[in-house]
Amino acid sequence: MLEVLSRSAKGRNIADIRTILVFTDTFHRNKAIVPIPVPQSSKCYNLNQAFTVQMALIQQVVLNSRPGKNGEPVPENFRMEESYLPQDLQEGQVKICTKFLSVDPYMRCRMNEEDTDVDYMPPWQVSSVVTGGGLGVVEDSKHQNLQKCDIVTSFTWPWQTRAVVDGAVLTKLDPQLVDGHLSYFLGAVGMPGLTSLLGVREKGHVTRGANQTMVVSGAAGACGMLAGQIGRLEGCPRVVGICGTDQKCQVLVSEIGFVAAVNYKKDE
Ligand SMILES: NC(=O)c1ccc[n+]([C@@H]2O[C@H](COP(=O)([O-])OP(=O)(O)OC[C@H]3O[C@@H](n4cnc5c(N)ncnc54)[C@H](OP(=O)(O)O)[C@@H]3O)[C@@H](O)[C@H]2O)c1
Repeated sequence: MLEVLSRSAKGRNIADIRTILVFTDTFHRNKAIVPIPVPQSSKCYNLNQAFTVQMALIQQVVLNSRPGKNGEPVPENFRMEESYLPQDLQEGQVKICTKFLSVDPYMRCRMNEEDTDVDYMPPWQVSSVVTGGGLGVVEDSKHQNLQKCDIVTSFTWPWQTRAVVDGAVLTKLDPQLVDGHLSYFLGAVGMPGLTSLLGVREKGHVTRGANQTMVVSGAAGACGMLAGQIGRLEGCPRVVGICGTDQKCQVLVSEIGFVAAVNYKKDE
């Protein structure tokens, strides 16, 4: 998990990258979504497979130190801890079991001490549990709108195997919308998908029937890949991608539907 986070963030101020940022099964080859293994004990719910319940002892990911304002994060910036969940829920609380966590560029900004460069995104606190986009299953509920075995998501999901949270921060999901592929809710059907869709429609000024050529920077990234595909669905006959390796260029053309791709580290 920590390795994925440090690889994804790469220590850059990713908020500066301007990317016109679709909807696809291939999306997951790029996005770092972390499946959380759940220890087996008693059966709770059957979607495609049985989810299981184990009480009390949990594992969590804590920010251990900061990488510095522009430093590259390393695994040592994080540590794993074990803790115990409260046994009893308060009114409005829900006990959730984590199934997927989303690793996203903005998380690098949250490693800064004060200035995240993102107004609405506070820094993570050292020795506190890391939070972000996540998805899981309700194991117990004292919230009126949520019940055991509901699939839920939140943008403030704690990076721990299980948690007790205020039910108000959770959004209930319909697994049938994604044919049971729950992680899609953190990708193409989640924030990156919405970012890409709005980027193309509101900022890209794509006009159906106008015979436009669409150029996507950061094209092999989570949003870029989706943006290119949305562009095609929105009627652009030619979608060209810009990315950083020949291998990415090849995937964009052979698998994602871009007509051409440019390696900005190599090509003129
Ligand atoms: N994911 C979301 O839901 C979301 C929401 C809102 C805003 N955003 C913003 O949208 C942007 C892309 O997000 P993402 O989730 O698609 O990120 P991502 O999966 O990490 O992709 C970003 C891409 O940017 C490229 N890149 C890195 N450094 C670059 C540089 N110096 N110049 C040009 N390209 C560079 C990298 O590709 P190469 O190695 O091929 O260059 C990388 O694949 C970020 O700025 C992010 O903050 C994302």
